[in-house]
Amino acid sequence: CTKMPMVCLTDFEEYAKEHLPKATWDYYAAGADECCTRDDNLLAYKRIRLRPRMLRDVSVSDTRTTVLGTEISFPVGIAPTAFHCLAWPDGEMSTARATEAVNTCYITSTYSTCSVEEIVAAAPNGYRWFQLYVYRNRKVSEQIVHRVEALGYKALVLTVDVPYTGKRRNDIRNQFRLPPHLKVKNFDGVFEQENSGLEEYGVPPNTLDPSISWKDIYWLQSLTRLPIIIKGILTKEDAELAVEHGVQGIIVSNHGGRQLDGGPATIDALLEIVDTVQGRIEVYLDGGIRTGSDVLKALALGAKCVFIGRPAIWGLAYKGEEGLREVLQILNDEFRLSMALAAGCRNVSEINRNLIQFSKL
Ligand code: FNR
Repeated sequence: CTKMPMVCLTDFEEYAKEHLPKATWDYYAAGADECCTRDDNLLAYKRIRLRPRMLRDVSVSDTRTTVLGTEISFPVGIAPTAFHCLAWPDGEMSTARATEAVNTCYITSTYSTCSVEEIVAAAPNGYRWFQLYVYRNRKVSEQIVHRVEALGYKALVLTVDVPYTGKRRNDIRNQFRLPPHLKVKNFDGVFEQENSGLEEYGVPPNTLDPSISWKDIYWLQSLTRLPIIIKGILTKEDAELAVEHGVQGIIVSNHGGRQLDGGPATIDALLEIVDTVQGRIEVYLDGGIRTGSDVLKALALGAKCVFIGRPAIWGLAYKGEEGLREVLQILNDEFRLSMALAAGCRNVSEINRNLIQFSKL
């Protein structure tokens, strides 16, 4: 059939909404409660205006940057999201291939539906970080840390905004759970002795430890030599604590609005965090990135790199590896264009706060 070309990320969103089973779509789209924070993640970008500079010779432009000292092709990586096999048959293996081909960072979710071994085998030269939760049974966390370290993952991303899972209304209405042919493969068999009862989402319930606190950062550091990045920071107070605890980076994130409803849009929280951190560690951001100018605004406000969650899943739902490559290519093209048009920037190091019209904020 003749199809319209995919032009922007929302074209992939529409495709995914039309083609995925309703319960799967609802799970990916979900925000907590009334979805105010989920929606504000996007709306907040529309409130920010740029101060474009002209006549700066933008005939050549370079979107490359580094994260933790490693070069990536442009400042957009893949945020950790669960269950890619619901969107595309070989799920995370396609995600790994697409990100390897594009040369950007893929944060593998703990709740992947392919094992970390399968993911690494699918794209042996990809640059990857592993997203971690802390389990009540610390041995489970310890084992997965050692496993991913041995597999060549380059950093651990500790997600700190899920002491409990947020209340996502449609998932409750749909009684959403993983279909029987899919599993959280990294933990095949691990929890079986402890949990014989109900499973939420196909993941054993009550396995995450809600008692985790700052001292557990030291525990994690004692297990590994990998850099540690804390995902889910939204205030200057916690940013300062993160620096004091010796982590290497922060991801300003509200979990795509799936946890606390009523918290800030991530782009609105970024500035106080960047001002507190003062370059001591790298600050990244995720949530609501849908266009190249969103990426530009986040970098102008001090993010070193941003990550996309749902748009990556829409790309997979469209055409697996190829679909995700297309999503990343479109975002790269848009980012390059807004660098030139809005910013007169030839490379990412020229992106700074002067691009933001603060009087409008
Ligand atoms: C997530 N997110 C997430 N975060 C995490 O640390 N571990 C995880 O397993 C998941 N799983 C997950 C599933 C789905 C379906 C979504 C949409 C999100 C949060 C994710 O990393 C990121 O913070 C947001 O998705 C960013 O917002 P956008 O880009 O989706 O707007």
